[in-house]
Amino acid sequence: MNLQINSEKLDSELQELAAFSETLSPAITRIVFSEQDVAARAWLKQKCLAAGLAIREDAIGNTFARWEGTDANSGSVATGSHIDAIPNAGRFDGTVGVIGGLEAIRALQKSGFTPKRSIELILFTSEEPTRFGIGCLGSRLLSGVLKPERAQTFKDREGNSLEDLRRCAGFTGDLHSVQLQPGHYTAFVELHIEQGPRLESQKLDIGIVTSIAAPAGMRVSITGSGGHAGGVLMRDRRDAFVGAAEMAIAVEAAALSTGSPDSVATTGICRVFPGAVNSVPSQVNLEIDVRDSELARRDSIVAAISEECKAIGRRRQLEVELETVNSDAPAACDPAIIGLISNACGEAGLTHMKMVSRAYHDSLFMSHLAPTSMIFIPCHLGISHRPDEFASLRDISNGVLILAHTLAALASQ
Ligand code: HGY
Ligand code: MN
Ligand code: MN
Repeated sequence: MNLQINSEKLDSELQELAAFSETLSPAITRIVFSEQDVAARAWLKQKCLAAGLAIREDAIGNTFARWEGTDANSGSVATGSHIDAIPNAGRFDGTVGVIGGLEAIRALQKSGFTPKRSIELILFTSEEPTRFGIGCLGSRLLSGVLKPERAQTFKDREGNSLEDLRRCAGFTGDLHSVQLQPGHYTAFVELHIEQGPRLESQKLDIGIVTSIAAPAGMRVSITGSGGHAGGVLMRDRRDAFVGAAEMAIAVEAAALSTGSPDSVATTGICRVFPGAVNSVPSQVNLEIDVRDSELARRDSIVAAISEECKAIGRRRQLEVELETVNSDAPAACDPAIIGLISNACGEAGLTHMKMVSRAYHDSLFMSHLAPTSMIFIPCHLGISHRPDEFASLRDISNGVLILAHTLAALASQ
C-alpha cells in the first residue's frame, strides 16, 4: 500500500496545537480542563470532523473520532494519546500520538484503503497527574481500573472538584458511563516520543514497546511545630522541611539501592507551609513518583521509602502521614501487534528495536481493555517534560507511516 504522509500538515498542526498554552513558547503548559485545554480540544474536533470522522465525547472528556468500518459489528481498532501538558513542558509529548494518529487515518483515506474494522482516534483526558495528582485519569476510568466513586472525590490544589471542573468544560454525563468492556477494541496502538535517549543514541528510527514500566505515586504529609525563625532555638525545633529534605534523600537512596537502572524515584513536588523566610516550616507536603519495569522491585522501593519516612518522623518528632495515590502493575504489550509493527518497519526500511517504556502512557491502561503496543520515535537527547523537548519532522513522519500501516493491518483482520 502506497501511503503518503503529509509532513507539512503534521508540522503546521503541531505548531498550531502548541499555541494553546498557558505559557509562552517554547514552554507548553496545558492543564486538563483549563481554558487552553478546552480550546485545544475544540480545535482538534474540527480537524477530525474535517477528516469525516464521527465524534463522541464521554463523561470525563475522553474524545473518540471514528472512521466507520465496513463491518460495524466487529470490534474496533484504536490509536490515540493526550494533549494535556505539565507546566513548562515541550510540544511533542502526547500530541505526536494525537496529530500523528489523525494524519495516519487521513493517509489511509487518501490511499483508498477501506477498513473492515472501524478505526478510532482517542484523545484521553488528563494523562498528566498535574491537576488531580494521578495520571491517566481518562484511560483509568475507560478501562475500569479507576472507579467513578473514587474519581468523584478528586479535587485540585485550589479545592475545585473534578466533578465541577469536568462539567464546566462541558462533560456532564455520569462517570459510570465511561467504562468500556474488553472486546470493544480488538487492538490499541499509541505513537509517542520515547522520552529517553536510547533510540537517538543508537541511531534507530523506531522503538517497538514490549512493556510499560509500573508507576506508583505517594503523598507524604509532614507536620512539625513551626515558629519564629529568630526565637525558636535549634534544639527546640521540629522543622518539617528539614525532615522532608531527609526524606527526599531517602527517596533517591531507595531507588539507587536496587542497583537496577530501571528503578527510578523522584520527589517532584515539595510544598512548604507557611513559606516565609523567617518562619520555621510547620507543614510540608511531598509527592513522590516511583517506577520500575519489575513490580516486586518497585514495591520494595515504595516500602523502603515508607519505612525511612516513618523513621525520620520518629527521630525528629514529626507527625508523618503516608498515602499511596496509585500503585499500578506494569503492562506487557501484545506479541502479535509487536510483530505487525516490526513487519511495517521492515517493509518501510526503517531501523527499529524492541524496548521497555520507562514513562507511563494511556497504553498502560488500554492494555486492560485490548491487546496493546506502542510505537516510539526518537526525541533529541531523550529530553522531555522540558521546553527544549524535540522530535524531528522526519522521525514524526516515520512514526506516522508505521502507525498507518499497523492500523491498516489490524483493521483488515
Ligand atoms: O510521567 C509520565 O511518564 C508521563 O509522561 N505522564
Ligand atoms: Mn508526559
Ligand atoms: Mn505522554
